[in-house]
Amino acid sequence: MSISRRSFLSTASGSIALAMFSLPCGGSRLIAQTRKDPRAAWNAPDATTSSDPRLQALAYAILAPNPHNRQPWLIDLKGDAELIVSCELERRLPATDPLDRQITIGFGAFLELLRMAASKLGYEALITEFPQGEPGNRLDERPIANVIFRKNPLIKADPLFQHVLARRTNRGPFDMTRAVDEGVLASVRSASLAPGQVFSSSEPKLTAKLRDLVWAAFKMEAMTHDPHMESVNLMRLGRAEVTANPDGISLDAPELEALVVQGILTRGAMASPDTPVFKQFLAVTEAPVRATPAFVWLVTPDNRRVSQLAAGRDWVRLNLMATSMGLGLHPQSATLQEYPEMYQLLDEVHDLLDARKGRIQMLGRIGYAPRAVPSPRWPLETRLRT
Ligand SMILES: Cc1cc2nc3c(=O)[nH]c(=O)nc-3n(C[C@H](O)[C@H](O)[C@H](O)COP(=O)(O)O)c2cc1C
Repeated sequence: MSISRRSFLSTASGSIALAMFSLPCGGSRLIAQTRKDPRAAWNAPDATTSSDPRLQALAYAILAPNPHNRQPWLIDLKGDAELIVSCELERRLPATDPLDRQITIGFGAFLELLRMAASKLGYEALITEFPQGEPGNRLDERPIANVIFRKNPLIKADPLFQHVLARRTNRGPFDMTRAVDEGVLASVRSASLAPGQVFSSSEPKLTAKLRDLVWAAFKMEAMTHDPHMESVNLMRLGRAEVTANPDGISLDAPELEALVVQGILTRGAMASPDTPVFKQFLAVTEAPVRATPAFVWLVTPDNRRVSQLAAGRDWVRLNLMATSMGLGLHPQSATLQEYPEMYQLLDEVHDLLDARKGRIQMLGRIGYAPRAVPSPRWPLETRLRT
């Protein structure tokens, strides 16, 4: 199918950008009208009929940021106060995340939201990470964590918890006329549990270099067959696909629906770098990257699984703090990925950020932006094994 650049731009540039990267809040009303709302998990999770605090807390934990929104958590409830968190191994991302590093970071964010929600309910969540040992190069069947809920009348709710339902990954362009100054960045960094491991910059030369680097990495990924196809295969095109599979990369903005129905926006078109759709996709992806006034990043001293979990905990905390301040946060993970085509850019970003002695676990754009709508979630009951 051939479409002119102009017609694509007029119908789709904003919509692809918004759908892939963020949605204006108005879009959510339409989506909410569908009978099965793939974003229902964000509506008052505590209104659950269950009186089990573990289920109430899990209803918040499933809202954690996680790579490609794969939601790989599998929960076993044990007795009346314990739960076991494992990874559904089929939900990993072997091409873009060959060492399961990012998947593990997502579990760190999940555990932090679980802990926060438990404390809001008056429970201490006693978390034992990797109770049967830390996995090696890939995650395996062994649990990620064992969690015991213990009532504690003295426990205080984490102040960041109140922002959980407003938190988003914001993929839109940020306001380049509004500086994110050092005081603001310091407040965001203050949410970290490991203050020595969180960094940020709005310095013009460094941010310009970072914009170039993350964009180079994005293009590299888009041109590298296996990682690109992993993402293409996880695209949910249009509302019906998103409703059937509320995970992956959701392209269901109302404007995109027309392109899907007309057969313009297809997986086939996205798979090939030569199609107008794909070229347009690159153009609309670059614009937000260029509209980035500042970056934040997390560096752990080593790349152990427990460090990856710690990075996930911190990432969601930074995201919650940014949310509380009206700031958008958007991970830029391509340059951090561990497949051969990316090795050089992975080295470059460690050199640029003077992080050679450690491992950059997360790098994100940060800036002022209108709030995005939430991303879909599988209902909690689909994530429970027992
Ligand atoms: C480890 C990790 C890496 C991520 N990398 C990217 C990325 O490179 N690009 C992106 O757009 N989003 C990235 N995300 C954000 C996820 O896509 C997002 O959390 C998920 O789609 C759910 O959306 P939400 O955060 O708005 O709830 C990443 C998240 C995590 C935890």
